[in-house]
Amino acid sequence: MNTMNCDISAVLYDEYKIQARIRELGLAITNEYGTRKPVLIGILKGGFVFMADLLRSITIPVEVDFMAISSYGSGTTSSGVVKIRKDIDVDICGRDVIIVEDIVDSGLSLQYIKDYITKHQPNSVKICVLLDKPQAHKIEVEIDYVGFNIGNEFVVGYGLDFNEFYRNLPYIGILKEEMYS
Ligand code: IMP
Ligand code: MG
Repeated sequence: MNTMNCDISAVLYDEYKIQARIRELGLAITNEYGTRKPVLIGILKGGFVFMADLLRSITIPVEVDFMAISSYGSGTTSSGVVKIRKDIDVDICGRDVIIVEDIVDSGLSLQYIKDYITKHQPNSVKICVLLDKPQAHKIEVEIDYVGFNIGNEFVVGYGLDFNEFYRNLPYIGILKEEMYS
């Protein structure tokens, strides 16, 4: 029995649904990049679980790197003001970059990251996210690969946290409102 289950009001995607969708995303990336060798840049911390599974569903050579950012917001809202906590190590000039992120909410973090990556003059930049909240976007951000669209509910699990907890839940679930209200 997982002691975190009682904090979840509903399971949106169980581990089997997540894995099935990730296999589709991996296949799409494999087919699109062909003989190119993309660099996957995972955004820490939320993106690390997704990255680990996505990576193994891609069957062409890829390089992996990570970037960590913090957006100043607490609990269930993000302010969009972003600071880089860990920079990329791979030289991405002329490379095909795929940014791998857990979730798009306002879109401000991803826009910041994309602009930052673009300054390094890669050949191309695409974005792959597990979850998208289309109704929450504050700016228009072009997302190339999306696992699932969800509503405006706050979700945890499979890498996503609330105050640093719940990342180790194997599924994606809606956090009970009483946990943060
Ligand atoms: P944005 O800049 O507003 O798009 O915020 C994106 C970041 O906020 C994500 O990378 C997550 O870290 C966090 N976030 C947004 N929505 C959720 C959620 O429902 N659960 C957990 N984290 C979230
Ligand atoms: Mg994140």
